[in-house]
Amino acid sequence: METVSNGIRIRFEVHGGGAPVLLVHGYPLSGALWDEFIPHLESDFRLIVPDLRGHGGSEAGDSAGMDELADDLVAVLEAADEGRPVVLVGMSMGGYAALAFCRRHRQRVRALALVDSKAGADTQEAADKRRETAARVLREGSAAVADVAKEMAGKLFAPGVDPSLRDAWRERMAGTSPTGIAAALRGMADRPDSSDLLRELGVPVLVVVGEEDEITPVEGAREMAAASGARLEIVEGAGHAAPVERPREVAAVLRSFLEGLG
Ligand code: MLT
Repeated sequence: METVSNGIRIRFEVHGGGAPVLLVHGYPLSGALWDEFIPHLESDFRLIVPDLRGHGGSEAGDSAGMDELADDLVAVLEAADEGRPVVLVGMSMGGYAALAFCRRHRQRVRALALVDSKAGADTQEAADKRRETAARVLREGSAAVADVAKEMAGKLFAPGVDPSLRDAWRERMAGTSPTGIAAALRGMADRPDSSDLLRELGVPVLVVVGEEDEITPVEGAREMAAASGARLEIVEGAGHAAPVERPREVAAVLRSFLEGLG
């Protein structure tokens, strides 16, 4: 299915039926992140799965600030005719977008799950590096995107992952448009610190992290969960892309959280 949000064509899928759950992927991934995860939950929940702008089958815009991503998500909910408050599940950059969604559209949020993500902003150094990479990707095009995909593929998974899974994702990421990559990098670099927002959100929060996540490690997830009163679940043997590496385990943790919402 498709919708148009602020002039950008956004692709999304809807699976199953029941209470609504919005699954938001990370950078530079796509809704396919959830492919193996969906079968574990679709019998009981309505899973709405967008490709964020500039990723997967969605069009890229020149910018992809977290607020813009949040507003795209509202457009997706409207196109899916979903007016009920949703459980927002954001993986990594999807978590940054989910936090922006909470800031801008709080009345639409029933609960929040941050998967391999964090509430803090980038350090100055990290933000500068993202902006440099964005400029390089726009200058050099697909060759630079291939480098980004290779670097990300090296960091996304736990060391013991099946190499064919790593290769498949490297190839997929290498197909992302330079405009989409650059916009997402600048959007992440510009995002604010959402730690206070998370603490004061007033909805149930679940923090899920892969035991071997090297991009958003367990220690940070533990601190974030403690500071915000969130429930913490550590997924054994998984890296940053826990929903790909351990779909059954991540789905079980999410199911238990969802069922606990009453
Ligand atoms: C992601 O997986 O979305 C990114 O690694 C997030 C980040 O770079 O901060």
